[in-house]
Amino acid sequence: MQANDYLDDLFSYIDRSPTAYHAVANSVALLQDHGFRRLRETDTWGILAPGSYYLTRNDSCLIAFTLSRNPQTGTPLRMAGAHTDSPGLKIKPNPIQTRHGCAQIGVEVYGGALLAPWFDRPLSIAGRVSWSDNDGALRCSLIDCRRPVAVIPSLAIHLDREANDNKSINKQTDLVPLVALSADAMPPDFHALLRDELAGRNPEAAQATILAFDLFLYDTQLLCRVGLQGEFVTGARLDNLLSCHALLQALVQSGTDRNRLVILNDHEEVGSMSTAGAQGPFLQSILERLYPDADLRQQAIAGSLFVSADNAHAVHPNFAAKHDPEHLPRLGGGPVIKTNANQRYASNGLTGALFRRFCDKAGVPCQQFVMRNDLSCGSTIGPLTAAGIGVATVDVGVPQLAMHSIRETVGHLDGWYLLRALAAFFSEEDQGIRCPEVNP
Ligand code: CO
Repeated sequence: MQANDYLDDLFSYIDRSPTAYHAVANSVALLQDHGFRRLRETDTWGILAPGSYYLTRNDSCLIAFTLSRNPQTGTPLRMAGAHTDSPGLKIKPNPIQTRHGCAQIGVEVYGGALLAPWFDRPLSIAGRVSWSDNDGALRCSLIDCRRPVAVIPSLAIHLDREANDNKSINKQTDLVPLVALSADAMPPDFHALLRDELAGRNPEAAQATILAFDLFLYDTQLLCRVGLQGEFVTGARLDNLLSCHALLQALVQSGTDRNRLVILNDHEEVGSMSTAGAQGPFLQSILERLYPDADLRQQAIAGSLFVSADNAHAVHPNFAAKHDPEHLPRLGGGPVIKTNANQRYASNGLTGALFRRFCDKAGVPCQQFVMRNDLSCGSTIGPLTAAGIGVATVDVGVPQLAMHSIRETVGHLDGWYLLRALAAFFSEEDQGIRCPEVNP
């Protein structure tokens, strides 16, 4: 795969993944294309033969791994993780309301979304729907309306003269999308809309009873290259589907002769406390099944490294004072190693050194980030995974602007650099991460 093919593939992956559910479905399709076999947590596994496997949880979280030899020998795993979710607007269970001739849908804010960019966008609806079929059986399907069905119009500046100087957004009252014109007597039937979407792929769903759903709004504008030479990529969900894509591509491109594992967690943007989140027991439980012997499992974890990939804050030319003056990651400058003295990032001087060597081996640049002392620092799945299973961890990510906006911006080659560094990590000869003893 070369850089242009990489970008085409990235665009396709993110554009077809408006929600974490779709990201996992598209990840599964990629893994199946490369011969990965499905496992289910509800099955008995026994001792797995060497090969490639994957499993999902909640349809929004995924673990994929390759085993080169019997893991009961305590052979370490090279592990990497990212998150499938992005901040956005989630549709409430009873969404329809009508006011002043318009039908609207109520939404909750999911995660730390930058809300202003959500106004005046052609929005669509996607996610997971639970329904019962004609025989009363419970069914679960993904839907993606793909066409624009909602818009959140701004208030005209003539009605808000302070809009450019002092704008605050009330999440309950200001952020209610319009979906139809409506005479008050005839509000639209939201369940009928969902039935129509389901029936496109499941004709029997035309009469379905909609039971519940996990649906989100998303911007229908696709990813695109921007810049005089196409130097930038702008689009939704680059944080963190760009990293999910790089991890999966590095995994499937590096063959099946090493022990490797990729985890894509949901719910990072809301604190990771869920069955599918990094504070949940998913990874720990899979390691316990791969290494049933506790002693061998600890030997394996002690020799493993976890690369936590999540986008980093590039320096914004208009707001450079928001960065520490000696730590200014640039767009196009390659993956960023993120450190924080208070362990908001899990990197340390040793795991950062290991990652820098993977970048060197791949021939890609890398950079350093630390937050200013007078601004609070974000976090990632890195510290949660490190603390949860006790694995040496490094936090890295491509530099980006406009994090958590409805459209984010990255340099066009930085994801490609991350993929190459991850491929170097996954393809090294030795199985274990040989951390040198400190030499006093
Ligand atoms: Co992120």
